[in-house]
Amino acid sequence: MDNWLPTLQTETPSEGYDLAVKLARMTIKKTQTDAAIRDRLRPDYAENADSLIAVSAVVATHFATISAANGYWAR
Ligand code: HEM
Repeated sequence: MDNWLPTLQTETPSEGYDLAVKLARMTIKKTQTDAAIRDRLRPDYAENADSLIAVSAVVATHFATISAANGYWAR
């Protein structure tokens, strides 16, 4: 998992958003390192509206950072 995040620069906002999702997922992986437990917990959050809203908020926070790092893709 070394250097899994070589850069915050992305070509497009869409790619930046994908990176934001990756950051969020990486935190889960680093926090709960047992894949079997993650698999078990997945259906819980997948079917819970509040969990999904929480997921959205985490990704939004990462996306704000990535957007700033990319100068909001303004060229
Ligand atoms: C699947 C995002 C939290 C376990 C996914 C997928 C996304 C995602 C986008 C679908 C991937 C695909 O089908 O291509 C996130 C985000 C999270 C989060 C942004 C938090 C902010 C969690 C948590 C767990 C978890 C808390 C369990 C502890 C899983 C598992 C899958 C999954 C096991 C299925 C992986 C697979 O089928 O390949 N997640 N997730 N995720 N997530 Fe999460």
